[in-house]
Amino acid sequence: MKRVMIVTGGGDCPGLNAVIRAVVNRASQEKDWEVVGSIEAFNGILREPTEIVVLDEAAVRGIHYQGGTILQTTNKGGPFEWPVKQKDGSWTTVDRSDEMIRKIGYLGIDAVINIDGDGSQRISQALYEKGLNIVGVPKTIDNDLSATDSTFGFQTAVQIATEAVDKLVTTAASHNRVQILEVMGRDAGWIALNAAVAGGAEICLLPEFPYNINNVMEKIESRFRKGRGFINIVISEGARNVNGDCVARESNEVGYRNRMLSGVGFQLEKELISAGCEHSIRTTVLGHLQRGGVPIAYDRVLASQFGVKAFELVLEEKFGTMVSYRHPNITYVTLQEAISTPNLVTYDTALMKTARGLGICFGM
Ligand code: F6P
Repeated sequence: MKRVMIVTGGGDCPGLNAVIRAVVNRASQEKDWEVVGSIEAFNGILREPTEIVVLDEAAVRGIHYQGGTILQTTNKGGPFEWPVKQKDGSWTTVDRSDEMIRKIGYLGIDAVINIDGDGSQRISQALYEKGLNIVGVPKTIDNDLSATDSTFGFQTAVQIATEAVDKLVTTAASHNRVQILEVMGRDAGWIALNAAVAGGAEICLLPEFPYNINNVMEKIESRFRKGRGFINIVISEGARNVNGDCVARESNEVGYRNRMLSGVGFQLEKELISAGCEHSIRTTVLGHLQRGGVPIAYDRVLASQFGVKAFELVLEEKFGTMVSYRHPNITYVTLQEAISTPNLVTYDTALMKTARGLGICFGM
């Protein structure tokens, strides 16, 4: 009997369960394969006692439309940065990658499928270089991986953000307000850009293009006549003023890899008031609502395609690769290629041209 282990790591993302189900259903068509899952990313395999579960068809039945991940996840720690409490109460991290690879071997696990974002596909690459048979599946609501046309979960996040814009438009119009919506998007503004176009926002501020507050003010004033009017602004959490840095705070969670972004919408509100904006302003931070709940059909389909392909890459022993969607095909790239270039919004991206054509202001 051969064994493949699924790992879900990083932030959760709508469609993770559909990938898990697809791997299991595809593997069940091969006589000699068993699928197991590590609980909470690689932590399940690193913990004593080990937390590994068998995933058969019964275990994954009907999970394709459920949000989250039945295997749980984390964006802290991992094999290269395992948190250890020291005698004085402080924390340090140790590299347990070699031990983990040995343990995977003892447990008779022949290959690993790591469903994760860009940061953790770096972990996949490092483990592959140490000899682990690993295949990556791209996962991020931010859609910031350039080695695939799209990642599952992104369209669901765009849908949720667009529904929020739709709701805020009616309240902004009723109150003659400036309505700010902060959405996720650490380095890449794809969610904000898509939601702004789909929801008809007038201003869209992205991490890729630091904004000038005077340009934002000018657009706002062009929408108000004799104090009446309204305007909707969609801003990515990673956006920043030309004169400033991102709004972020350090996390006190041990081994957390990112700076915690949130609050740029409220900062923008303050900047507008300082710049002389006299209209009523309200800010909404959409936050983790964008990652939860039922994946839309598009993401379930893409996730299912990724899961089937990931298992087939294992069968073909194409390790050190990541599944990729290149319209109309589901294919693969090397992990090295997958992590080399982020997918950022550029000035000449087709959707930016459309957005500029629609008159959306980017504060540039
Ligand atoms: O990478 C996806 C993402 O949704 C980012 O946009 C966001 O900054 C981050 O995850 C937040 O993750 P968490 O709150 O789970 O640490």
